[in-house]
Amino acid sequence: MIEKITVPLGNRSYPIIIGASILDSLGKHLLEINFPKRVAVISNSVVGQLYSEVVRKSLREADIEFLEIILPDGEEFKTLQTLEQIYNQLIRNNFDRSTGLIALGGGVIGDMVGFAAATFLRGVPFVQVPTSLLAQVDSSVGGKTAVNHSLGKNLIGAFYQPEMVLIDVETLNSLDPREVAAGLAEVVKYGVIKDKAFFEWLEKKYSDLQACQTDALIEAVKRSCQIKADIVEVDEKEGSIRAFLNYGHTFGHAVEALSGYGQWKHGEAVAIGMVVAARISLQQGLCNSDDVARIVALLKSLNLPVEPPEYSLEDYVAAMQRDKKVKHGTLTLVLNQGIGSVTLAQVPDISAVFSKILAP
Ligand code: NAD
Ligand code: GLY
Repeated sequence: MIEKITVPLGNRSYPIIIGASILDSLGKHLLEINFPKRVAVISNSVVGQLYSEVVRKSLREADIEFLEIILPDGEEFKTLQTLEQIYNQLIRNNFDRSTGLIALGGGVIGDMVGFAAATFLRGVPFVQVPTSLLAQVDSSVGGKTAVNHSLGKNLIGAFYQPEMVLIDVETLNSLDPREVAAGLAEVVKYGVIKDKAFFEWLEKKYSDLQACQTDALIEAVKRSCQIKADIVEVDEKEGSIRAFLNYGHTFGHAVEALSGYGQWKHGEAVAIGMVVAARISLQQGLCNSDDVARIVALLKSLNLPVEPPEYSLEDYVAAMQRDKKVKHGTLTLVLNQGIGSVTLAQVPDISAVFSKILAP
């Protein structure tokens, strides 16, 4: 069964195609959207090893000419230097405006290839083929593309939408279980911010999801992508409600920054951040203790961490003050109203709000 969602952005609208064992139909789907017949498939050493052969066969069957670019694996390579390697290969191989790029990999590859597509020759079309759960439910949809700078994550980037997202949930079978859990944290986020029924479904299906059961994965990916598409349709460039997607992220980013990137997976840090956000929401009277307990229980059942690592309040506050979401010293926090709805709250005194949550 193949599911299809549209991200409705006028003449930049695009399909998200979701299914199991559909990677071998990539070529056919590219022809359907009139994608260029000459492409560069950009992947990394891990994902390329696993899935390049299926992609090659599919492109040959569709008579699509391709160049393969294999990058080193890891967040530390999400840099301008690696981007230059992409540009070099494209230029040396005479890629022009009638060609396209395909990102085959997790969020690192997707973000980097998206930014390469946004900037090469002032913009060439690209397609996302996300292979990690985080990329399938979050980073491949919505057009945020970026590379990191030595002074911070995702500081150099652009909003640039793909022409299609093709999601094969079977690729998740080769993903490390810790990466699956990290992706599930973002799935839980969608339930908390937008869809109580989905949250309840997750409470029932968590073990199927952990086991990468196909039908459960398709449903979780579909509902997550639909929620993200609905938000991006209204607010593509994060002027308003797209900020809801940052639920749990402000504190999560602080955890990642304080521990040194890599110790916690992004999704794990977001899980901790969601619990902190839920506790602040309780403190502000926006939800009740049962809501907090349910969020904690679901995350725990998915083997995700829920307690903040022990850094001082001062360290946490300093880390949050460096967040992109702080303007003129005031932090905008996403807080949950019960489960299934969120609101934005301005926090001028970050220390006062977080001291009650982090105090032993
Ligand atoms: P990742 O791309 O590093 O993938 C995690 C690991 O899994 C890597 O080692 C990767 O090679 C491997 N992998 C991927 N698919 C695999 C598969 N099917 N089988 C085996 N191994 C596989 O990390 P990620 O969690 O996918 O993405 C994180 C990145 O996404 C960060 O750079 C973050 O900034 C970015 N991000 C972007 C957005 C956005 O909206 N653009 C949203 C969230 C996160
Ligand atoms: N991952 C948050 C966003 O796409 O806006």
